[in-house]
Amino acid sequence: MSTVQENLNYKQYVVDSNLRYFKPHATAVEATFAQEISSSLGRSKKFISPKFFYDMRGSDLFEQICLLPEYYPTRTEVSILKKMGNDLAAHVKSDTRLVELGSGSSVKTRILLDVFSRVQDSTEYIPIDISEILAESSELLLRDYTALSITGIMDSYEGGLEFLKQYDSRQNLIIFLGSSFGNFSPEYGHLFLQKMRSAMKPGDLFLIGLDLVKDRDVLESAYDDSQGVTAQFNLNVLLRINAELGADFDLGNFEHCSVYDAENQRIEMHVRSLADQMVMISKSGLRLELQKGEMIHTEYSHKYSLPQIGCMLRDAGLEVVRTWTDEKEMFSLTLARRPART
Ligand code: TRP
Repeated sequence: MSTVQENLNYKQYVVDSNLRYFKPHATAVEATFAQEISSSLGRSKKFISPKFFYDMRGSDLFEQICLLPEYYPTRTEVSILKKMGNDLAAHVKSDTRLVELGSGSSVKTRILLDVFSRVQDSTEYIPIDISEILAESSELLLRDYTALSITGIMDSYEGGLEFLKQYDSRQNLIIFLGSSFGNFSPEYGHLFLQKMRSAMKPGDLFLIGLDLVKDRDVLESAYDDSQGVTAQFNLNVLLRINAELGADFDLGNFEHCSVYDAENQRIEMHVRSLADQMVMISKSGLRLELQKGEMIHTEYSHKYSLPQIGCMLRDAGLEVVRTWTDEKEMFSLTLARRPART
């Protein structure tokens, strides 16, 4: 890999003629991590942002979660994507570009790329992911798709959307799958959809995959599986803080905890302290005191009704084109458009 260009925020790495990445400078990434942890663990209601789950081990564990019998969202979303291929093809033009937020292992991307290849001779794909897994998954995609060129953005969603806004004037279909949007608080979710709309050009499309409200038992076991993979995934964020920010979390002193809050329509994920304890996080300059039973909030996973999804999108100035679900209405995919002149 050779560096051919540097701009203010990103370094560009060109691998070959159909693969390049943009990545923020490593020092900036570490400084942001240390600062964010310092402020989110330094307040009385302690919190760790879910975007920090996805180091290499975290990304691997998440791939395992997606295959668990209890974790219905991935396979349900895949089945809907396969079914809706023809309908979606009608909205893809010969020069529409595919952009994906939180592309991860890019498994679902393949279903979309198959749709694009029916309409296009060659396809441009921009995956945006905070995890290094992006490099691996891009190379795997290029082995199977020869008429594909990839520009990967290894950054947060917000960084990626900002990049996209300034990139060029081509039409995009932006996909945001896996109910990752449900991990935002409702307030931030609204703000995020506004950012999304402003990153879209008139006529651009947005496909969002969201989990639907259902029985508590089904939901709670999806986020606390019998093999304990979800627990490992949740607790891994503490190991990451140990490794990257010089902290001394003892994993034996914490447990995974997730409950469904029906009123707020969300799974709430925490790590619970099993003892009165003190943890040092040296790069964040933080001495963390935790009491037995105290919770550190790590994630929400919101569940929606179909009317709520329509409302959220319209509130952000997007127009709903169509919604698809599975037969049991477990999961949904909604296609929205930024109207031509607004
Ligand atoms: N977007 C996924 C979801 O809300 C993320 C997720 C699944 C997750 N399982 C998890 C996050 C367990 C933390 C812990 O379903």
